[in-house]
Amino acid sequence: MDYREMYSAKLTSAEKLAERLESGWSLGMDSSTSQTPAIMSAFAQRVKDKGLRDIKVQTLLDAYPFEFYADSSLAGMMTGYSWFSSGSARKAINAGRADFIPAYYRDIPGHIRREYEYDAFCVAVSPMDKHGYFSLGNNASYAQAMIDKAKRIFIEVNDRQPRAVCGAQIHISQVDAIVENSFQLPVLPAASLDEISITIGNLIAEQIPDGACIQLGIGAIPDATGMALKSKHDLGIHTEMFTDSMVELIECGAVNNSKKQIHRGKSITTFAYGSQRIYDYIDDNPAIELLPVDYVNDPNVICKNDNVVSINAALEVDFWGQVCAESVGTKHMSGSGGQIDFVRGACQSRGGKSFIAFSSTAKGGAISKIKSELTPGAVCTTSKNDVDYIVTEYGIAHLRGKSLAERTKQLIAIAHPNFRDELLFEAKKRGILI
Ligand code: COA
Repeated sequence: MDYREMYSAKLTSAEKLAERLESGWSLGMDSSTSQTPAIMSAFAQRVKDKGLRDIKVQTLLDAYPFEFYADSSLAGMMTGYSWFSSGSARKAINAGRADFIPAYYRDIPGHIRREYEYDAFCVAVSPMDKHGYFSLGNNASYAQAMIDKAKRIFIEVNDRQPRAVCGAQIHISQVDAIVENSFQLPVLPAASLDEISITIGNLIAEQIPDGACIQLGIGAIPDATGMALKSKHDLGIHTEMFTDSMVELIECGAVNNSKKQIHRGKSITTFAYGSQRIYDYIDDNPAIELLPVDYVNDPNVICKNDNVVSINAALEVDFWGQVCAESVGTKHMSGSGGQIDFVRGACQSRGGKSFIAFSSTAKGGAISKIKSELTPGAVCTTSKNDVDYIVTEYGIAHLRGKSLAERTKQLIAIAHPNFRDELLFEAKKRGILI
């Protein structure tokens, strides 16, 4: 059959599509720039107009201020469930209007396949190619699992969506309805690289040899580390999130992927999110492969490359080296993402290292992020048994294989000087140090 004819037959408006929505539906949606703002907005309006109830939307890393998070009048009618909260999801979860599903990022496709069915999967795609395929643009992480478990597939075609050569694809024959929506993709505001981030980035960069294979997490410090690597040679990329600083490293020649043991010559990621520069880089570029997260983030895959170095951020760490990257006490901030996947993968890699880095204090110096114990209610993201290096602007603590007393001493040495006496007092009170 002619693919253009199939396309025309399935083309509709978001409002018309919303007429198909029924109470009790479970919707799966892709992540960040592969989300479907026009479809979700029309669905929210339909829910309100018709008084539909009990509609669930499962998603991850939201790029838009969706009504099902922001609009409290939708309570009980349309509810968001996030695998990794940020932005509007974070606010809604803390207000009790939305819910959070904890998981290691690498496990999400498996959880989807084992635990869920969807009445529809909603995803934004690039225009159809001559073979009838749509590229899922900047995301390949869990879409295939949702496709496998969805009764219907609704796509939002955006001609500004990049076409990833090796990323996830959907064929027109699989699609139930098409909505066209041409607009500039959302970008992540560039992290401001302050003096502390730059100091930490430089400290970590000193530990990274030429030829290393890097993963950079989300936030200012991983970004600053990326920028500090511009004088390195023969770096490789195997990461979960492809970032602006990685494009910079590729374009300045520091990354050429020539020393990798797997996927030599190519950058590997499961999603990309950042500036338009990233989306332009991905478009039609065989030098970068976007692959499913259960492959990319599998520690047994990550460690196949030598000298893997992972750099991620955190909110606090205790004397054991338990790392919290997801909450401030009971206040929900984020998800585990792939932090542990890459901590483990890096530590299993020959010559690998994993860095968790953060400024020594929060709230203008009022709070130490190194603590005798995690704040009550804090979520432990990376456990004491997995942690490797902790970095602040005062130096690097190497905790892996070290005793509690050795860890405590090293952590106090990289805490902000204003808090060292207090931390020492706490360590003595607990009988950790004499
Ligand atoms: N106590 C109180 N407040 C704290 C705090 C602490 N210990 N640590 C940070 N904060 C506050 C900051 O002041 C800031 O507040 P503001 O928004 O009012 O300015 C806010 O919490 C965010 O902190 P910041 O250090 O700016 O966060 P970030 O943007 O660098 O992101 C994480 C840090 C941990 C949230 C982020 O890396 C993340 O989501 N990690 C998830 C797990 C992961 O690493 N996944 C793999 C990579 S995708």
